Amino acid sequence: MKEVLAIRRKLLVANWKMHKNISEAQAFCRRFLPEIEECDRADIAICPPFTLLTAVKGALGSSKVKLGAQNLFWEEKGAYTGEVSPAMLLDAGCEMVIIGHSERRHIFGETDEMINRKVKAALRNKLIPILCVGETLEERKKGQAEEVVKRQLLEGLRELEYDGEIVIAYEPVWAIGTGVNASPDDAQKMSFFIRQILKGIFPEEKVLEMRILYGGSVKPENITGFTGQPDVDGALVGGASLDPDSFAEIVRLSCYA
Ligand code: PGA
Repeated sequence: MKEVLAIRRKLLVANWKMHKNISEAQAFCRRFLPEIEECDRADIAICPPFTLLTAVKGALGSSKVKLGAQNLFWEEKGAYTGEVSPAMLLDAGCEMVIIGHSERRHIFGETDEMINRKVKAALRNKLIPILCVGETLEERKKGQAEEVVKRQLLEGLRELEYDGEIVIAYEPVWAIGTGVNASPDDAQKMSFFIRQILKGIFPEEKVLEMRILYGGSVKPENITGFTGQPDVDGALVGGASLDPDSFAEIVRLSCYA
């Protein structure tokens, strides 16, 4: 188990959702970067809204912090008003992209089939997809959490070659933005389950390298409970990633978990 843990570096991803303007984003980077300079045991990414990608890329400069987007469209180009292609994200300096976030599924009606197309488009373009899965409160209460997560994984990862890195984020919908986080034990149990499902899709040696993140009301006070678990390899952080001090604290604490 120790060897397995050693090959998976922790990954902390900031999901800024629909927040910040250019000057706020630049101020965030100015404060955040010196705070995490010493922390070389974790990978870090910031996923701002599309309008901030170029400014954040510039503000990150030569730092090790990677840039990611919160969504993409699967076509390469064309008459798709309002959409952004994988090539456009690459051009803006993105290395990863969040796909199938529960807000996209529930507010914008994204289906598993659409999410699968997006994952394929990301991989085709050498972007790392961060595929989000997770059950609603109702589904959990009915004892369907595992069934839902399994379906989202099997459908979202349907018919694709493991070609390049894929990250999974387990985000129980009831824990997102609510202040009610899952327990570290629940996060571990579901991450372990996710890894078992992944073993039915990809070669085992690949699955042992795949990072599974927890997301949902992560903050400095609870991060080590999650990153201390054997199958939880980091976090996707919403609200607490908007403040540079709090996100830097989450990164620092994860480096030593
Ligand atoms: P939260 O959001 O940390 O604000 O709960 C997490 C997410 O939606 O990715």
